[in-house]
Amino acid sequence: MSTQKAPQKRRQTVPRIQARKGGKKPLTMLTAYTYAHARLVDAAGVDIILVGDSLANVCLGHETTLPVTVEQMVYHTAAVRRGTDHALVVGDMPFLSYNVSIPQAIENAGRFLKEAGADAVKLEGGTEVADVVRAISRAGIPVMGHVGLTPQTVSKLGGYKVQGKSALAARHLADACLALEDAGAFAVVLECVPSDVSSEITQRLEIPTIGIGAGPGTDGQVLVFHDVLGVFVDGFEPRFVKRYANIGEQAVKAISEFVQEVQSGVFPGPEHGFAMKQGEGDKLPDVLSDSTRGAVADGLVASETE
Ligand code: KIV
Repeated sequence: MSTQKAPQKRRQTVPRIQARKGGKKPLTMLTAYTYAHARLVDAAGVDIILVGDSLANVCLGHETTLPVTVEQMVYHTAAVRRGTDHALVVGDMPFLSYNVSIPQAIENAGRFLKEAGADAVKLEGGTEVADVVRAISRAGIPVMGHVGLTPQTVSKLGGYKVQGKSALAARHLADACLALEDAGAFAVVLECVPSDVSSEITQRLEIPTIGIGAGPGTDGQVLVFHDVLGVFVDGFEPRFVKRYANIGEQAVKAISEFVQEVQSGVFPGPEHGFAMKQGEGDKLPDVLSDSTRGAVADGLVASETE
């Protein structure tokens, strides 16, 4: 028998993620929202786990990401941290948690590290949030940017639309990414951006880009846990999603079987139950008879706690 231990996978860090810029092996990022999700995603070898504010949609049933609070995000990020041994954990800062004032933004970002054990935070926006990114980053908190389709400003964008489709809009996006890089962001998400535009931006940046609906020319790819696994059996599926499993269908099938087996008396079987100590079953009718009623409360029958 070999005495050699299997090589332990090293924990991801911000510098190790940054060192993958322009490398042969693209970065992988997937969302997770619970301890159980994180165990699965981490076991699969994903580099970065994002506790996305898409939590509002896929876990809490809201139509937009706007209602989710810092409290909820920190709570879920802590659960994901407990389930993660290797991946970098990034907590998503929710709507208005970083736009009111710089001190408040630093405090809220700090909660993800102090209370939830996250490695970094992500926030949406470009040039207009560069000062906030600089301040949070200077406070020692690594920041991931997010430009293109930014769901928190969906009202302003007029819907969930591809961004940067004209050359001028692409220039605007490139400027936003350069401003984030200059402000100290360690990586940036490009969401729903034409593939040519994201490739060009990726080549002009020193920090890694991570795309979602942004084509193959970025330094990495991110998707939402529920989309990858096909957790929902109904609902809209964006074009950029690739479904790798149909967990939702399997889950409904399994749960329907449970319902059917309970209703038909198949479950639980003898193997799912517990037996009394030998000989105790015979005493049961007497002990449960009306004449011993209240005996336990009166201390006449010893209570059994083992
Ligand atoms: O909240 C989220 O899930 C995200 C990813 C889609 C990048 O921001």
